[in-house]
Amino acid sequence: MLLWKSDGCKTCKGRCKGRVKPVLLKIGGSVLTDKGRECTFNMQNIRRIAGEIARASVPIVIVHGAGSFGHPQAKKHHIQQNPDTEGLVKTHRAVLELNTVFVETLQEEGVAAIGVHPLNCLLAKRGIVKQWGVEIIKRLVDFGVTPVIHGDVVVDTIDGISVISGDRILTYLAKTLDVAVIGAGTVVDGVLDKNEKTIPHITPSNFKDVSDYIGGSTGDDVTGGMRGKVLELLKLAESGIESVIFNANLNNMVFNFLSGEAIPATRISGAE
Ligand SMILES: Nc1ncnc2c1ncn2[C@@H]1O[C@H](COP(=O)(O)OP(=O)(O)OP(=O)(O)O)[C@@H](O)[C@H]1O
Ligand SMILES: [Mg+2]
Repeated sequence: MLLWKSDGCKTCKGRCKGRVKPVLLKIGGSVLTDKGRECTFNMQNIRRIAGEIARASVPIVIVHGAGSFGHPQAKKHHIQQNPDTEGLVKTHRAVLELNTVFVETLQEEGVAAIGVHPLNCLLAKRGIVKQWGVEIIKRLVDFGVTPVIHGDVVVDTIDGISVISGDRILTYLAKTLDVAVIGAGTVVDGVLDKNEKTIPHITPSNFKDVSDYIGGSTGDDVTGGMRGKVLELLKLAESGIESVIFNANLNNMVFNFLSGEAIPATRISGAE
């Protein structure tokens, strides 16, 4: 089964610039970093995933999470309870470092990747995106660029600053960009039940049956881990937009997702 169908990027290698809807892909910080060790890259995964993205040759908007570059700093500086300038600077600098390495690796693999930093362009209100000119992202993609956006600490009209997770960026972009398909790659085989089996489909109506199994993260995570992700994607599902959570820690999974192949995943949608 094909999850989605590209209109020709496989053959035109992206030269169609904008005539094909982009894929919206989140790569978890859990995949790009070692979430158990502060500021530690998983270079093997960064290189492999950059290669898979390059090979897929479809227009893509990439979002990535912070992993061990961001979550530990936000926690240490109590960003959510007591935001200050030091916490802002240290947390942003950490996630910027991860973004820079990922973007440079994508470029080395031949992707025209450009980092987009929410702190510089997005305004939040109580942790919710209030204002963001995503027209720039659309036009970058039309020009053949792959924007690489990340979870970040951002300016907030009520709280001074707040944390916006990669998952929240993903859902905002899913609503505001016209994309072909939405996927969140993480470090596990989707959302797992009590027997560690992938739950194939979560909807607002069956969420209560699986909710007890869905927890936070094993590493530091200030944005709710798997539970935060599922809740974000359920809100998206309620507005009629479907997404999948899959394992980006496994070889070729990102490539297969980008190619529209069927992959083991948890589908989150509005209807049964
Ligand atoms: N029911 C569940 N199924 C799968 N994972 C779960 C479940 N409950 C809790 N988790 C935890 O959620 C983690 C994935 O969420 P996490 O936020 O750490 O990853 P991520 O979103 O990919 O990373 P980042 O937030 O840095 O972008 C898993 O590693 C697992 O420990
Ligand atoms: Mg997370």
